[in-house]
Amino acid sequence: MNDTFDYARYDRIRPILWTGDALQLLDQRKLPFVVEHVECTTSDDVAAAIHALAVRGAPAIGIAAAWGTVLAGRDIDAADGAEASLKIEPALQRLNAARPTAVNLAWALARMRRMLQPAGADWRAVLEHEAEAIATEDLAANRHMGELGAALIGEGSGVLTHCNTGSLATAGFGTALGVIRAGVAQGKILKVFADETRPWQQGARLTVWELQQDGIDATLIADSAASHLMKTGVVQWVVVGADRICANGDTANKIGTYQLAIAARHHGLKFMVVAPSSTVDMDTASGELIEIEERDPGELHGIGGVRIVAEGIKAWNPVFDVTPGDLIDAIVTEKGVVEAPTTEKMRAAFG
Ligand code: MRU
Repeated sequence: MNDTFDYARYDRIRPILWTGDALQLLDQRKLPFVVEHVECTTSDDVAAAIHALAVRGAPAIGIAAAWGTVLAGRDIDAADGAEASLKIEPALQRLNAARPTAVNLAWALARMRRMLQPAGADWRAVLEHEAEAIATEDLAANRHMGELGAALIGEGSGVLTHCNTGSLATAGFGTALGVIRAGVAQGKILKVFADETRPWQQGARLTVWELQQDGIDATLIADSAASHLMKTGVVQWVVVGADRICANGDTANKIGTYQLAIAARHHGLKFMVVAPSSTVDMDTASGELIEIEERDPGELHGIGGVRIVAEGIKAWNPVFDVTPGDLIDAIVTEKGVVEAPTTEKMRAAFG
């Protein structure tokens, strides 16, 4: 992005901190009222933190897993990368199993494996360097996507976003929220709406807090207010992130994304998906092949630890859904923009 962008103002939060000995994760279960870090000193600590959503958001999960690999390396003895590859694999499998839907997790682990295999006696340093590179590249990708995505948005627009796709969910700046940051900084986006994102409340607890840290004015709405908001004509774009983008453009993202895409199309709004190319999974042909994570039904039984549902009520809690590619107007990655995605266009962009 251009040199005049004030990153210090528009990007203050960092969810993942490597101290040289341990991984410090800003505990997203406790925000916004408690700002506390979880310290991970083993790869299993990292796997548990990913599973429990202490760290969350597809790119952040991938980065955390990369550092988890570095930590796993500390628990084994190996003369070179080939030997380490064999010994480290069980720990990588446990990291991989922490959450199923965001492809960034498997992507980061595959990248760490690829670097480790041919490494020599300095294989631990190689792993550390690669984890650092994954984080650095993610931040750069987000800044570039901010520029590309904001260029699609007209002057004086309003936008609606879903879940949390900001600095908290990435190495920094964010994906969809990066586009919104850039659009606000350029004076193009005048109104930002964030929905609550039941059941885990990423929008209510994280997104509006994160924007407040940057001095960006945002308005919270109930998830169920989205169609009504669209009908008022105040928003022109829905801008969301992604956990996995298939070869035909079908996109898995936080539960509720699909209904926003349907409502956006009905009301003549544009729908933008913003994600780094590490979220693109060309090996998965279409959305019905994606494993959708289902979490504890207890997440639906209460809010903030207070039970609101009568005892004995069953609940179903899928935490992602798939938006068909034909409801998406633009997929923005650091490699460019794919408009109205099809398998052919995705292949041309991502090989
Ligand atoms: O369950 P979460 O909070 O990890 O889900 C996060 C999302 O669905 C995000 O939209 C996605 O990971 C993109 S984050 C840049």
